[in-house]
Amino acid sequence: MKLLKAKKDFEVKVWQDKRDAYGSGPAIPYKKFLKEVKGAHAILCMLTEKIDEPVIKAAGPQLKVIAQNAVGYNNIDLIAAKKHGVTITNTPGVLSRAVAEHTIALIMAISKRIVEADRYTRAGKYKSWAPLMMLTTELSGKTLGLVGGGRIGSATAHFAHHGLGMKILYTDVIKNKHLEKEVKAKKTSLLNLCKKSDVVSVHVPLLPSTKYLIDTKQLAAMKKTAFLVNTARGPIVREKALLRALKKKQIAGAALDVFECEPLIDCDVTDHMSLREMENVILTPHIASAATETRDEMAKIAAKNIIAVLGGRKPLNPVS
Ligand code: GLV
Ligand code: GLV
Repeated sequence: MKLLKAKKDFEVKVWQDKRDAYGSGPAIPYKKFLKEVKGAHAILCMLTEKIDEPVIKAAGPQLKVIAQNAVGYNNIDLIAAKKHGVTITNTPGVLSRAVAEHTIALIMAISKRIVEADRYTRAGKYKSWAPLMMLTTELSGKTLGLVGGGRIGSATAHFAHHGLGMKILYTDVIKNKHLEKEVKAKKTSLLNLCKKSDVVSVHVPLLPSTKYLIDTKQLAAMKKTAFLVNTARGPIVREKALLRALKKKQIAGAALDVFECEPLIDCDVTDHMSLREMENVILTPHIASAATETRDEMAKIAAKNIIAVLGGRKPLNPVS
């Protein structure tokens, strides 16, 4: 915002609503958004804003650029943007490390039962040390399966391999030679990855082709002792199938930063199964990239993309 406000010829309008103590608050309601964007040359949006053709039309023909303050941009209709000559940009790269760190934190937390153990200890249930109490899993020498070997998957693999001694499998539409060299990662099919991995971690963008990539079949292929981690986008995992797999103990647990019906944690509240009630599930509210350093960089990049396009230059991070 500072970067944008420093531009003398820019008029900056900011949506602000009540935030809770954690900084969370409602996104701009769609109808209000339609009204507020009128006349804008640029829109800096979050992944909570649906950017469709009506929004682009409501802004008007002077709209040049929409800068997404995130790496994923599944909330944006790219075809409509192209049709109206609007450039779309995102913030890749700067958040890979933070998301990878959060992924590792979730892998550690679920395999070491940190959250469950904290609940147990706080509840005053710890009476005596016992050799078989609350057994956990060692990660060293185990296999991490990356569903997606891009920047975030690679950063996660780096920490997991060099820090924890994990073996790396990955699946992707393209071969990542650097990943194969740096962490001795092996590319394989999704089903084989599910079969062989002790932790399956999701790092693909949400696209029509990746929706429900992790479904009943993939979960059934996983080891009974394996964990599923998702810090990418909720709908890549079919929540209903995950709930069933957890309930039937087909897998050992799941750690999720994103949800299929986000910000709802359970898509179907009538289903009598809730992620929130499962001991072997860890939930965080889409904060994988929330490191202060990272969010600072993301905001700066989004602003720089706008400044570039409005200045008639090429943006740093166009998406198409
Ligand atoms: C966060 O989820 C992002 O896509 O940057
Ligand atoms: C995102 O930055 C990715 O390519 O994984």
